[in-house]
Amino acid sequence: MSEDYKEAFEKTRIAGAVAAEALDQVAKIIKPGIKTCAIDELCYEFLNDNGAYSAPLLYRGFPKSCCISTNHVVCHGIPSEKILRDGDIVNVDVTALKNGWHGDTSRTFEIGEVSIKAKKLVKTTYDAMMKGISIIKDNIYLGDIGATIQKHVEDEGFSVVQDFCGHGIGKSFHQEPNVLHYGKRGTGEKIKTGMIFTIEPMINVGNYETKTLNDGWTAVTKDKSLSAQFEHTVGVTKDGYEIFTLSKN
Ligand code: MF3
Ligand code: CO
Ligand code: CO
Repeated sequence: MSEDYKEAFEKTRIAGAVAAEALDQVAKIIKPGIKTCAIDELCYEFLNDNGAYSAPLLYRGFPKSCCISTNHVVCHGIPSEKILRDGDIVNVDVTALKNGWHGDTSRTFEIGEVSIKAKKLVKTTYDAMMKGISIIKDNIYLGDIGATIQKHVEDEGFSVVQDFCGHGIGKSFHQEPNVLHYGKRGTGEKIKTGMIFTIEPMINVGNYETKTLNDGWTAVTKDKSLSAQFEHTVGVTKDGYEIFTLSKN
């Protein structure tokens, strides 16, 4: 991996930037009254116009170009005729495939004025992701990342979803290792310089349990409580990390 990883980083930087820019475009149009399929169309067009493909489209039969997960939907929501309303929280998850490499990122947007609880959930989820990322460097354990995220989330009174995790990413969309967002320090695989993976915690106001709806994709909280998520694609360096999916705004 050591010799090759500079090329892998360069390719992921390019794919990651396109995915982040797609979300910057989404940020401009997302508001009360918009249908989630309109956001999906924007993502499809933006990726195509920028020399990329949408990796989710037809991935294991997924029917759309991004995942849009509102309120109690944990992840993998399918864009539809659903109209966003004031007070909703909405995760948009975009994965660009450019020059054969992937960049995967998501943000949770607040639509109009949201409740104090929803605001706290969104902030806690973002902070948990960034705290998990902030400790990354060569030779730490994957469990260190999970433990850092879990501690922050549980200190704030929320719970970490266990049914979905981050993942290695590169020429394939999902590869080894699984990156759990909970766990114990000093456990699991050691991470090494050159590894590229996502951190994408899904955090619930209530219980951590999820179930998948009959469409085979949409994952919701079992107790119907609100759920939020953020995702970055990151690379491990000797002294730290690089985030490939930062917004330039
Ligand atoms: N982007 C999601 C992730 O973060 C995966 C979506 S797979 C899909 O891993 F098929 F639902 F699009
Ligand atoms: Co991902
Ligand atoms: Co994603």
